[in-house]
Amino acid sequence: MNYPVWDLTTYGGGFLIALVAVVHVLVSHFAVGGGLFLITLEKKAYKDEDAGLLDYVKKHSKFFLLVSMVFGGLTGVGIWWTIALLNPAATSSLIHTFVFGWAAEWVFFVGEIVALFIYFYTFGKMDRNNHIIVGWIYFICAWMSLFLINGIIGYMLTPGAWIETHSFWSGFFNPTFWPSLVFRTGISLTLCGVFGFVTAAFLKDDNLRQKIMRTCAVWVAIPFALMVGGGWWYFLAIPEPAKTIILEKSPEVTNYLQLLTWAMPILFIASMIMAIRLPQSFQKVFCFVIVGIALIYFGAFEFIREGGRRPFIIYDHMYSNQVYVKDVPEIQKAGFLTSSKWARHKEVTDENLMDAGRDLFKFQCSACHSVNGPLNDIVPIVQKFDTVFGMDSMLNGLGKINNYMPHFMGTREERWALANYIVHGPDIRVVQEITQQETAQKKPAH
Ligand code: HEC
Repeated sequence: MNYPVWDLTTYGGGFLIALVAVVHVLVSHFAVGGGLFLITLEKKAYKDEDAGLLDYVKKHSKFFLLVSMVFGGLTGVGIWWTIALLNPAATSSLIHTFVFGWAAEWVFFVGEIVALFIYFYTFGKMDRNNHIIVGWIYFICAWMSLFLINGIIGYMLTPGAWIETHSFWSGFFNPTFWPSLVFRTGISLTLCGVFGFVTAAFLKDDNLRQKIMRTCAVWVAIPFALMVGGGWWYFLAIPEPAKTIILEKSPEVTNYLQLLTWAMPILFIASMIMAIRLPQSFQKVFCFVIVGIALIYFGAFEFIREGGRRPFIIYDHMYSNQVYVKDVPEIQKAGFLTSSKWARHKEVTDENLMDAGRDLFKFQCSACHSVNGPLNDIVPIVQKFDTVFGMDSMLNGLGKINNYMPHFMGTREERWALANYIVHGPDIRVVQEITQQETAQKKPAH
């Protein structure tokens, strides 16, 4: 435990990262496929000498530049800011394991930015063939950055042989690398159609709008197969313990799995509706509804991927609460607080029982549990434990039946302090008081 913990309480339990990541992931995948969408339509416009279509491509490229580069760039930096503050140990581990992966990713990212600027600012001014080549350079750079990030993200869920070899390549080409790449490429192409609806819906020319709506619907439909097939292959490639967590063990993942199975066909059907000739006023609203559905769909997928990794942040290597798996025996012996550089209380005494307990909660539980917050709130789920004794034995069994959580790490005294904090802690007690009031109200009836 080498790093401090950012104590977010209400917005803890992964809320902040979820908020930034889900938005960024949607936009960054759009940034990958969007290049191919632009050059395909541009080429078609040249072939058919279709000035209306060419004008649309130009307009769409401005929207694309703003959404993918400006907004995508900002949220991308936001991801680094968030993960570095929320989980410095895992961030450090990712950087150390994949130094050259990140460096290569940065090169492609620069390539992407330069190519997209040239593409946008020389639209209609450059020789047609060269302009298409610039578009291709953009698309290849963008896809390569997906290729690189995909290896690193996949490694967190399925590090595979890396656990033993610690070699860059076995971590990078991990067991879910290829299926995840197919799935993500499918998503990034599908999103071209989804965002294409948004720019097309505002075109004034009825026939042109209708034609582009149909083209966008095709851009959703064809890669959809790649996405569904890749997604299934991805799921099959996940090793057993994580698959069980996803399918049956974790109550939180079950909800997201349901959301995913509903959002996927709804996204498809909603997109196909756009291919029908409908009033523009409807299309102008409905295109944003489709973006919303895509956000929910992709968000649910990312939640499942993260949830399936529990209790780890890097599978079999580091727990979500920044503790390296290899350090656990040492921590059990020496005590958790003594082993944590940033804990205020190094040992449990009668005087600091509550504060030491709070520290333990912050360091061991707050990565996954918020306090009175929207994500995985600890308050309602501990209500049934009304004695410190009961909570203490729950902590003793933690991570055994509910193996989506790590074991409690530390000495018997530390476990008692944590149990005491959870049952009587000032932030969690609010509900305890209500419970006591309810009990008091109930008493006369008996
Ligand atoms: C790796 C993430 C993670 C960590 C770390 C974690 N939990 Fe959990 N915990 C969960 C999830 C997920 C659930 C299931 C929530 C639900 O029911 O929706 C859960 C449920 C619980 C429950 C209810 C269990 C039941 O069967 O009713 C308790 C109590 C609990 N956690 C306490 C703790 C305490 C105390 C800590 C710190 C020592 C902790 N958790 C650390 C993820 C975690």
